[in-house]
Amino acid sequence: MSNYQNLKFETRNKIAYVTINRPDKLNALNMATMEELRAAFTAIRDDKDVRVAILTGEGQKAFVAGADIGELSKHTTVSAKEYTHKGQAVLDLIENLGKPVIACINGFALGGGCELAMACTMRLASDNAKLGQPEVKLGIMAGYGGTQRFPRLIGKGLAMQYLLTGDQMPAAEAHRIGLVNEVVPQDQLIKRAEEIAAKIIANAPLAIQYTMEAVNHGMNMTLSEGLYLEATLFGVCCATEDKNEGTKAFLEKRAANFAGK
Ligand code: COA
Repeated sequence: MSNYQNLKFETRNKIAYVTINRPDKLNALNMATMEELRAAFTAIRDDKDVRVAILTGEGQKAFVAGADIGELSKHTTVSAKEYTHKGQAVLDLIENLGKPVIACINGFALGGGCELAMACTMRLASDNAKLGQPEVKLGIMAGYGGTQRFPRLIGKGLAMQYLLTGDQMPAAEAHRIGLVNEVVPQDQLIKRAEEIAAKIIANAPLAIQYTMEAVNHGMNMTLSEGLYLEATLFGVCCATEDKNEGTKAFLEKRAANFAGK
């Protein structure tokens, strides 16, 4: 356990568990929480013993119900710009961590909560989850990447509809359109994430890292540039000890023991 005020943070069996812990405010993201998320995910990135992170919200009602509206109400032009840059940097850190981050959406994921989930590598939702970008109802717009990651994940037309209406999307609809990978009963959410994490952890760490780099960077490139990046990273994989171990283990009909080198 840790000394965070707004997070629970622990590591077990190569998994880091990050739980946003402001249930009385439906885990709304104030600046202090964003700072702690930055610190926690920096620690996860730098800890070689951690292979996967699971991110969720405390309680049974919310993953994160958005940015803290009390803080938002006080922003000036200058502070709002600074606030947005800082928040976007935390989500960029999560998206490009080099290790998978599984969002377990256990209730409301609205505004910054939906954006935080979209910056994660994959999303699982409980059947009571509701996702959306309601900022326009408050006279503002999405500022933690919602206007960019939402259309990339679900397509421009649907993203526009949700960004402009501010409607909440039930878990089943989020699943139908591919925003969340799976919907499971709330008490199974972490267990299902752990099952996926265990499969990832059995695979070669550098191959996981380079695959994520190829997908994340490739999504911002033309197809031919992305394919060039893929070929280059494939070449790098072939220079690793893990490639020797993985191919040797297959030929010797045994499980591979990857060192991440
Ligand atoms: N920022 C700050 N506080 C928030 C919050 C947010 N984004 N979302 C919820 N809370 C607080 C409420 O003010 C309330 O606090 P209080 O008990 O001190 O009054 C507490 O969390 C519980 O929320 P409440 O609104 O009573 O729960 P509900 O079940 O009636 O409604 C929501 C749940 C999520 C529909 C509603 O809280 C909501 O619309 N929240 C704002 C969502 C939003 O616009 N997010 C984007 C922000 S940019």
